[in-house]
Amino acid sequence: GSEKAAVIARIKKLLVEKDAALVAHYYVDGDIQDLAMETGGYVADSLEMARFGKNHSAKNLIVAGVRFMGESAKILSPEKRVFMPDLDATCSLDLGCDASDFAAFRAANPDRVVVVYANTSAAVKAQADWMVTSSCALAIVHQLKIEGKKILWAPDRHLGRYIQEQTGADMLLWNGACIVHDEFKAVELEMLKAAHPNAMILVHPESPQAVVDLADVVGSTSAMIKAVVEGTATEYIVATDNGILHRMRQLAPNKKLIEAPTAGNSATCKSCAHCPWMAMNGLQGILNCLENASGEIFIEEPIRVQALGCVERMLDFTK
Ligand code: 13P
Ligand code: SF4
Repeated sequence: GSEKAAVIARIKKLLVEKDAALVAHYYVDGDIQDLAMETGGYVADSLEMARFGKNHSAKNLIVAGVRFMGESAKILSPEKRVFMPDLDATCSLDLGCDASDFAAFRAANPDRVVVVYANTSAAVKAQADWMVTSSCALAIVHQLKIEGKKILWAPDRHLGRYIQEQTGADMLLWNGACIVHDEFKAVELEMLKAAHPNAMILVHPESPQAVVDLADVVGSTSAMIKAVVEGTATEYIVATDNGILHRMRQLAPNKKLIEAPTAGNSATCKSCAHCPWMAMNGLQGILNCLENASGEIFIEEPIRVQALGCVERMLDFTK
């Protein structure tokens, strides 16, 4: 309503006045994604968010997403102030990979190159040789395999297993999972596909193996959007957080998009596949960042400096 319009107008004004850029992930509320695009910010996958934040000239970044995304921005841009609409927006992968437990895992396997997924804390990244996201993990591990390296992988076991299968690399996997993608169900997906035989199945690699095995395209959020925009099919079954449908509909208005089934959403729940932490991002939170400097990310400098190496290595590799 008009109250929402007033908040949006105020945010737009303050973004300019405070020299701030808004960068959002595809899973956050559609209003926030639109606001990012309308104000010279960006909506993207986690790799592109990191690169955009680093390259942007603004003095302040507002990162609408989950904690590790704000931390990646701060790791790369210590000279910028980085804010998040809600600092409690975490991720089950980050929560499931405690930095001291990870240190023990690493110490027990000193012969392995340490590759961590972006969805981890700065304190875990500080212990890694490489950071990867779902859009570059395959290429980076493939290169490490060619170099004859053995890999220690954390935290997502589904993505790790998929990369292992695709590359044949020797990978020791941490046992973590995304609570959203872990819920996609293969049997129900097969039934849905039977009802829509011409639909293309798009799956994020944080999903279980049986679901990934049914996919026509396995990839990051950006890769899934590209598949819808460029694909020749008219129907697409989408196995990732349903926040992504907003951008897909904007970029491919004539395609039919169908949410992949989770345990709950087949009959009763219309929005099971939505990350509760991504959902914590609201317009009011963005306004609070701009008006009160709330939600600022701070990382202890020794940790930040140690974490920077693995993040920069990834950005250099994917240039
Ligand atoms: P992407 O890097 O594909 O955007 O994934 C981030 C994420 O949190 C997926 O759940
Ligand atoms: Fe983490 Fe899953 Fe949420 Fe992505 S969707 S932020 S992996 S809990």
